[in-house]
Amino acid sequence: MKLIRCYTIGSVCLFLSLSPSVFGQGQPGGRGPGGQNSGGGGQGTTAQDPGVRASNSGLGQPLSTLTPEQVQFFNDGLARFVQIDSVSAGAPNEPGSGLGPGYNSNSCRSCHSQPVTGGSSPSQNQYPFVGPNPQILAGADYGASNSMPFFITADGPVREARFPFMMNANGSVSQVADGGVHDVFTIAGRQDAEGCTMPQPNFEQMQQLNNVIFRIPTPVFGAGLIESIPDSTILSNMSANSQIKQWLGISGHPNYSGNDGSITRFGWKAQNKSLEIFAGEAYNVEMGVTNELFPNERGNPPAACLYNYTPEDSTNFNLSGPQMLSDLVEFANFMRFLAPPAQSSQGIPGNPSQRSIQNGQAAFLKAHCDMCHTPSMQTGTSAFTPGLSNQTAQLFSDLLVHHMGSGLADNVSQGSAAGDEFRTAPLWGVGQRIFFLHDGRATPSNGGLLRAIQNHASNGSEANRVIGLFNQLSNQDQQDLLNYLRSL
Ligand code: HEC
Ligand code: HEC
Repeated sequence: MKLIRCYTIGSVCLFLSLSPSVFGQGQPGGRGPGGQNSGGGGQGTTAQDPGVRASNSGLGQPLSTLTPEQVQFFNDGLARFVQIDSVSAGAPNEPGSGLGPGYNSNSCRSCHSQPVTGGSSPSQNQYPFVGPNPQILAGADYGASNSMPFFITADGPVREARFPFMMNANGSVSQVADGGVHDVFTIAGRQDAEGCTMPQPNFEQMQQLNNVIFRIPTPVFGAGLIESIPDSTILSNMSANSQIKQWLGISGHPNYSGNDGSITRFGWKAQNKSLEIFAGEAYNVEMGVTNELFPNERGNPPAACLYNYTPEDSTNFNLSGPQMLSDLVEFANFMRFLAPPAQSSQGIPGNPSQRSIQNGQAAFLKAHCDMCHTPSMQTGTSAFTPGLSNQTAQLFSDLLVHHMGSGLADNVSQGSAAGDEFRTAPLWGVGQRIFFLHDGRATPSNGGLLRAIQNHASNGSEANRVIGLFNQLSNQDQQDLLNYLRSL
């Protein structure tokens, strides 16, 4: 069987025949190793990631359809997202409370700040130069006596750590799944944590035992649109183009909530249901702040390190308006109302031409990146605001999880996402991102976007054939594709 598709570049129609021979080795529908083609650029490509786009094209604004009341809730949510928490609201300029005993940083913004609040990990030497890795400051804040583990560096990404497996009593790694986040820091030593001596986890030992993996922050621009896509739309997009997907070896499936059986969609493994649940979980996991969704301190900390009544964040019954709501509900309102990234070709280093960017879009389709990175999906009806209702979300993701092979596998399963399965990373806003892939392994110093693409291919990855097609593109087409990604 042959599938023929026409691609128009300018006025030329390119026919690409999807016969198995195009893909080199492997059976149709199989997931053999790919990326071995010698035509086009391949490993020796001259194409380069042009680098972070230096214009923010209105990023960080609320949706334009909000009512004046909703804008108040958005602004209040933003203020809380930015607020730094101390243990009991006693530290100067740290009016929030509830930090710790374990934490990864001390405000939502610290990890979600690039290129503006709501984004992802900043870097001290990339646009817009938000500063050094904020975890370096957070770990030493107000007298905290943390040592900086090897994976937190000044110019590296913000990271959190998970241990795939539990430890045996004798200090060896067991086969029993752990998978949970082990906070990088503790409040021990802080001036507002007298008497607490809780140690940090031994990350160096876990590294030696090969039992630690990392995750970097995902941006939350347009998150309200992602939340508003009906399950039925995700499922019908999954069944679309089934023949091409089969030939390419692409399957993919949703991750589901164990509670109500609907499709979950947030996080690197699409493990989380909603913005409110993510906010509640992040508040407790990343910052140690117990709340109405996650009311108990995690990790069984020593009593000497507990200073507050729980939950530390709750409804403010004595206030009114936005101030009445708990932080977690206001975090969710802020994220839900945050406008999606807008495409722009302004500020891409090297000023690629419109023609290059258009050709790059065609190359993206020609290599079939769109079979996972679905360019857009429609939202359903939203009770919140017309800006979320029946909108085209240009997210470049199918919101499904895919086997990405031994190279990317982190051996952590969450819901129905297995150890090598990840959510197709939404590519909107990717033009302004610095670090790529779930652990931030693709960085400006090792090829950035190009490295991220090449790392899709490894034993058992559903993307192998697509990366084979990418490698067959001419150097110019690969360059145009990278320029195009920087316009997203
Ligand atoms: C220490 C850094 C850090 C802090 C602080 C932090 N986050 Fe995150 N955030 C992350 C990481 C890492 C991920 C990806 C986690 C994963 O999928 O395993 C993430 C993912 C998210 C997502 C998922 C977005 C998507 O589409 O995948 C949301 C929503 C979110 N964070 C909200 C918050 C909120 C709200 C706060 C403050 C309460 C917060 N975060 C604080 C690091 C952080
Ligand atoms: C089989 C599905 C699949 C195909 C095909 C695919 N991707 Fe991906 N892509 C993913 C997944 C899953 C991730 C996240 C992987 C991870 O973080 O470990 C990802 C991540 C990325 C990232 C990093 C984004 C970020 O937020 O860090 C870029 C860039 C990217 N893909 C571009 C492409 C391009 C370009 C192509 C075509 C040449 C392509 N992808 C083909 C599934 C796919």
